[in-house]
Amino acid sequence: MSFARIVATGSALPERVVTNADLEKLVDTSDEWIRSRTGIRERRVAAEGETTGDLAFRAARQALHDAGVKASELDMIVLGTTTPDLIFPATACLIQDWLGANGCAAFDVNAACSGFMYALGIADKFIRAGNAKKVLVVGAETLTRMVDWSERETCVLFGDGAGAVVLEASDEPGVLATCLHADGGYKDLLWNPVGVSAGFKDEKNHGVRINMSGREVFKVAVKTLDSLVGQTLREAGMHEKDVDWLIPHQANLRIIEATAKRLGMSMDRVIVTVDKHANTSSGSVPLALDAAVRSGKVRRGQNLLLEAFGGGFTWASAMVRY
Ligand code: COA
Repeated sequence: MSFARIVATGSALPERVVTNADLEKLVDTSDEWIRSRTGIRERRVAAEGETTGDLAFRAARQALHDAGVKASELDMIVLGTTTPDLIFPATACLIQDWLGANGCAAFDVNAACSGFMYALGIADKFIRAGNAKKVLVVGAETLTRMVDWSERETCVLFGDGAGAVVLEASDEPGVLATCLHADGGYKDLLWNPVGVSAGFKDEKNHGVRINMSGREVFKVAVKTLDSLVGQTLREAGMHEKDVDWLIPHQANLRIIEATAKRLGMSMDRVIVTVDKHANTSSGSVPLALDAAVRSGKVRRGQNLLLEAFGGGFTWASAMVRY
């Protein structure tokens, strides 16, 4: 049976850096509070007119270039996002045309911060089943577009960015296991209450805006990721010591540290980008992966545990032999 192997990675960030000091001028917060509670020092914010699709396109182009794969060779594009350019067509369709991959399957996956992990899981299944040979998987967001910059509880946490991988069918492993989960019963802890069918204003007449019960999200995330990494190890037939790198969702350094502790991993085996990127939702894991590959930390043959947790709740993971 074919494995889905990551041939290359790519990423893209907006140019504009917004530091914690910048946010001190907008809301009653401090660099010290943000750093000590979250590990975030700065985030990137998309320029006016710069979209999720623009970032996804740049990340995808870099991954395709480094993979030596032409866009016309792709069988499928799966793009995780909660902040698509348009309601339709899917952002995957927009970048398909910009890349020149016209004709292949292209669709978005909305699983909030787990979007990239869901997209990777879906792409892996298509390749394993023999229905696709070359797949572009992207996680891309402009989450700051739905941030209320007057709300200190949420505006300090998020940033914009995109990451991409090119997967190819291979006899060599590859993605070893993927786990995808959701529990819609937790909807109210992290959500955006406006939308096409529900209407574009909520009962308080707010526009598009993230609602979050931070402390509760934190608790469930730690507990859920704890059992998720256990399941991922079991499904891959591996033990904690077999994992070379943890590449976690970059929402909060304290959540990342708790997962590393559960795995018995020291922080020098964990990829951390939350300090520079903040929470880029679907962009976070592929951005961290690309940074790890480009820095030379992650090398061929190593085992990577990727995981994410987000609104829904959704949570998902992959064990990958890079
Ligand atoms: N600056 C300063 N003070 C702030 C603040 C900010 N940006 N945001 C909240 N506070 C205040 C609160 O109002 C509260 O004040 P009070 O004690 O007077 O009521 C105090 O800080 C402590 O708030 P608390 O919620 O207990 O802090 P915390 O240690 O739980 O950290 C989060 C808050 C949001 C950083 C943390 O809960 C978290 O990261 N949760 C997960 C969020 C997340 O990752 N979401 C995305 C998941 S994909």
